[in-house]
Amino acid sequence: MSEPLIEIKDLRVEFNVREGVVKAVDGFNLTINRGETVGVIGESGCGKSVTARAILNMVPKPGKVSGEILYHRRAKGAATDGLSRTTEVIDLTKVDPDGETIRQVRGGEIGMIFQEPMSSLTPVYSVGTLINEAVSLHRLSPVKKIGDQITETVQAHRRVTKAEGRAIAIEMLRKVGIPKPNERVDNYPHQLSGGQRQRVMIAIALSCEPVMLIADEPTTALDVSIEAQILDIMRELQESSDMAILFITHNLGVVANMAHEIVVMYMGKAVERAKVQDLFYNPKHPYTQSLLQSIPKLGQKKSGERLASIAGSVPNPFNLPSGCVFHPRCPAFMPGKCDVFTPKWTQVGEEHWANCLLYEEVGK
Ligand SMILES: Nc1ncnc2c1ncn2[C@@H]1O[C@H](COP(=O)(O)OP(=O)(O)OP(=O)(O)O)[C@@H](O)[C@H]1O
Ligand SMILES: [Mg+2]
Repeated sequence: MSEPLIEIKDLRVEFNVREGVVKAVDGFNLTINRGETVGVIGESGCGKSVTARAILNMVPKPGKVSGEILYHRRAKGAATDGLSRTTEVIDLTKVDPDGETIRQVRGGEIGMIFQEPMSSLTPVYSVGTLINEAVSLHRLSPVKKIGDQITETVQAHRRVTKAEGRAIAIEMLRKVGIPKPNERVDNYPHQLSGGQRQRVMIAIALSCEPVMLIADEPTTALDVSIEAQILDIMRELQESSDMAILFITHNLGVVANMAHEIVVMYMGKAVERAKVQDLFYNPKHPYTQSLLQSIPKLGQKKSGERLASIAGSVPNPFNLPSGCVFHPRCPAFMPGKCDVFTPKWTQVGEEHWANCLLYEEVGK
């Protein structure tokens, strides 16, 4: 039975910059259930990372957040038999960004792995993302041994001794495929390769057994065999502890393998949401259809395949098109309709929604 863990309601994030206002997230809605993986795809700059950061109340300045992000938090030590369970609901957009609650949630109850910008393969990296990453609170410290960094994270969120924390650190390093983990635990980050550092970040995120993992391009920097190992670890943890995963990626092969459901974002909005099979075999939104043209048949191309670029360019954020923001690029553009009316979220199949006027009775 589906039990909501995170409900994002009408999330909006605006950046007031010199040129005007960027609506990085513009009325985004999403429910993530316990134990489920939701994949998020969409072109660079569509608001994926900003949404992820909003969940952790970590939107960088001068970002302004509105809407709700409801976290259904189980009371500590609550029974998991579904009968005597007690949950409280916390709006993560309203908690003190430096307070005790968010400190427990961030990295403890909700783990995170952020994209590694310097080694990213995305040629069109958004400047905002680069700024975000630079100020991220969750880089590895260059002056601390990696084992101590894992131990400290575990100790901040779980009642364990230093020795137990170290044992967990070694075990996590082994799990993420770091060779000789009992020696590597005493290494500093600069003694590891970029791919190994990313694996340490993953070990830290998973070390507290979070109820949800936010994985923002978690394996982009890794080679294919390590990537497969990491994805296996995430799946294992998901099965053993009912962990939800918000999986952000440009890699359609990976998302097809990992996700139960997929959300497609365009210009800060969800434009389509469906079960993974429906989305790949029966995409409804012309934007999703264009994105998927990069993979003629699912699974036939090598797993490193990334989203194709699609016709036209992303509109100027300071001068958005009228009506449906995708209309200037849309192969199914209907003049007098798509440039006039704003599409609404419409059910287009069983557990399948799209934000497109093709499926709405308007303007007739
Ligand atoms: N700190 C910031 N200041 C100003 N604009 C920002 C900031 N952070 C993000 N943005 C803008 O918000 C929008 C969404 O950015 P976001 O990083 O969420 O994109 P993304 O979908 O994660 O892209 P990518 O696939 O490249 O990672 C972009 O237009 C970006 O330039
Ligand atoms: Mg991003």
